[in-house]
Formats: sequence, structure tokens, C-alpha cells
Amino acid sequence: MKSLSVQPTSTLQGTIALPGDKSIAHRALIIGAIAKGTTRIKNFPNSQDCLSTLGALEKLGVRLKKSLKPNGLSEIKIFGKGLAGLNKPLAPLFLGDSGTSFRLLCGLLSGQNFFLRLKAGPSLSRRPMRRITVPLRMMGAKITAKRVVQISRRKVHAAKRIEEYPPFEIKGGNLKGITYTMPVASAQVKSAIVLAGLYARGITCIVEPIKTRDHTERMLKLFQADIKTIKNKIKVKGGKELLSPGTIDVPGDISSATFFIVLAAIAPGAHLVIKNVGLNHSRSGALRVLRRMRADIKINTSSSRYAAGLEPAGDIIVKSSLLRGTVVKKEEIPSLIDELPILMVAASLARGRTVFEGVGELRVKETDRINSMLRNLTSMGAEIKIEEKRGSENIVIDGVKELKASEVKSFGDHRTAMSMVVAGLVARGKSKIDDLDCIRKSFPTFLDKLNSIIQR
Ligand code: S3P
Repeated sequence: MKSLSVQPTSTLQGTIALPGDKSIAHRALIIGAIAKGTTRIKNFPNSQDCLSTLGALEKLGVRLKKSLKPNGLSEIKIFGKGLAGLNKPLAPLFLGDSGTSFRLLCGLLSGQNFFLRLKAGPSLSRRPMRRITVPLRMMGAKITAKRVVQISRRKVHAAKRIEEYPPFEIKGGNLKGITYTMPVASAQVKSAIVLAGLYARGITCIVEPIKTRDHTERMLKLFQADIKTIKNKIKVKGGKELLSPGTIDVPGDISSATFFIVLAAIAPGAHLVIKNVGLNHSRSGALRVLRRMRADIKINTSSSRYAAGLEPAGDIIVKSSLLRGTVVKKEEIPSLIDELPILMVAASLARGRTVFEGVGELRVKETDRINSMLRNLTSMGAEIKIEEKRGSENIVIDGVKELKASEVKSFGDHRTAMSMVVAGLVARGKSKIDDLDCIRKSFPTFLDKLNSIIQR
């Protein structure tokens, strides 16, 4: 367990580039594996989660050439096996604590005509999976999962609910297309159904309650799949072979970038440039919210290597700012879901009140992030309330002038850990974070990048 003491930074200056987007990299690996041709993935993030997907694909018989570098500039070459080319693995697939690997691969494996077992690490084994088993079974997949009966007592009624968790046994194949309206806004669920839809008879149509990140749809279009998006509806036709576009150059991860953007906005005298960050509209809600909070953020897309390709990207320039509170609506949440912990740090230091509406999904991430951030930030003097209004869970934060140092916990959650490092860098006094090993899950070089721009 690696703990860290954090002292306030006097300021922040410099230019950085970040490892590739985790969500895009998972998709490039999976879709590259079942396409015809060779796919070269540049700027591959060397993070634990992406390595879980990579390891699983190797066990499914996919040949890969890896050039993994500790500085983040890794490259992967995938020798695609075609739609029907995956092999039955000899042993259960273990996907660590990567929710994206688990859910997306469940979709892919539902389309394969063999039986296999899927296992998960301790935190993923506590995350709800009925959201994927329900539609995948409707398509014809045979899935056995760990079932738990949950009884929630609300006022006089006791309601029984069944939830499902890893490990899974899947016997896929012989799928049919379905029309499915998703009850939760989740890109992982949508992507699982789309990937299964590639193998289904006829058309699979998915309706999203709120639009979520669309990396799977963009990537599949690049691989010439038969897929259409009309507003909140995605239609995919099964049975068409995919063709590799050759090279996929993954833009920097906007979720990783947001830790630095918030730090530059709240640290005194900061001026930071982050090169080539992914700017997909369905992922960049945090930028829109921070601008509304009056953060001094400029975006330059002119020098971007990616602007005309798979995903929009550009350079982000941030300077210190005096932040103001804002209201973040439920409809905006999917576009900034992973950025909520660090936005809570920004809101704690903004003038006035910030409300994040409809944030219930935060309770089922790597940890219950409402609880982890509430406990940590409150111990640093932040004023945070959680309220429930008409079935929607909201976070209400009244900004304070300064945060004070404290001993806080990562709860084994990478985004909580990185958010608290940022909070510690602007707090008065010396803070301590108990365990930072979890950061490897998404951003192993986080502390190196941070040290390269901090001025003491
Ligand atoms: C992801 C989708 C989101 C996000 C996760 C990555 C993806 O999860 O929180 O970190 O790559 O599709 P949900 O789909 O559960 O909201």
C-alpha cells in the first residue's frame, strides 16, 4: 500500500501530453480483434484496465504484438481474426476490476458459439450486472450469474429485488436482434448490446434514456460495420464482417485531463497546456460545466492530429480562475460521470452553491463515490449535503474559501485517489492519502505528470 503526503503547490506551469483514452482503447482492442486485417493502436494507455481486456483477448486466441512502455507511449498491433475467429479459452477469463472489460466482453462473448467462465476481482464482483444479463438473455445468450436477493425497506413496504454479480458462465451463439429501451444510461450496457448485435440475426435497436459516450458506435463505423445512430437510437445489423482501418491513434484521455484542468483552475498563478485531448461531445461535459463555473479554459483544435478522424481532439489551455457555483442537470451526468469526484473538489472551492442532480450511478462505480468523496472532502472542511428529491439523488455543495489538510482515504478507487491528491495540493497544511496503488487502474503515470508541472 503506497500512501502519499501532499503539500500545497505554489503554482503550476507547463505543457503535458497524456496517455490514450481508456474507453477508446478498450474498443479498439475488442473491435480490432474481430475485424479482418491488422490494427495498430498508437498511444495505448498502459493501464491495468486496458491490460485486462488485452489479456482476455489473448486467451481467446487473438495474436497481439505489444510494445508496452512505462512512460505511457505504448503501441499494440492486433492481428484480427474476423467475426467468427475467436477460440474457446482453455481456462476462465479473469478481468480484474475492469467494469468496461467485463461488460463489453459479455456482449462479445454472447455472440460466440462456445461455453466459458468469466471471473472478476473483489470490487468488480460487487458491481451490478443485471443491466447486461437482461438484454443479452433476450437476444438468446445463456448466462448464469451469482444471484442475490436484495430487500429494501421504504416506509411501510419491503421491496424485493434480484441483482446479479460476477462470476458468470456464458454459452453464447444463435442470437436474434431485439429492440431494447435501456432503463439506465450506461455506455457499457449499450456497448455490450451493440457488440452482441454484430452476431445477431437481423437488426438490434437500442434506445438510450440519455445519450452516453458513443465511442463504440464511432469505432464500428470506422471498421465499416452496418450501424446507424438516429438521436438516442442505435441500430446495428448482424453478420457483416468488419475491416480494419489500419492505424488508430488514441487521443489523450479527457477523464485523466480533468484532474489537471481542475488543479490549474484552482491553483494560484497556474498556466497549463494539455496536448491532444479527446474532445468527443459525449465525454466533455466536465469542460462545459467548468466553463460555466467561469474556469479560464481555451481549446485549440487547429494543430490536432485527430480532428478529421475517428474522434475529435485538441489542446486544452487552462489558467487560474475564480470559480462560481452552477447547477449540473441529470441529462448532463453521463457526459461527465467519471469526472464527478474531481468536479466535487472544484465545487468545494467555488463561490456559491453547486448542485449535481441525478447522480445515483456514482454509488455503483469502483466504490460508492458519493460516500468516499463526501467523507474525504468533509474532513477537509467542505460543505456537502446529499439530498433525495423526487427519486433523484443530488449532491449539494456550498463553496468554502479554503480546504484544510486532512488524512483521507482512496477507498481503493483510482478516481477518488487522484481527486484527493488535487485537493491536497490546494489545501492549507500537509494532507495524507492512505493508498495510491489503485491509480494504476487508469493512469499509472499520474504522479510523474503532476511532478513535471508543479513548482514548489
Ligand atoms: C465507460 C462507461 C461508464 C464509465 C466507465 C467507462 C465505458 O460506465 O463510468 O468508467 O468505457 O463505456 P457506465 O456505462 O457504467 O456508466
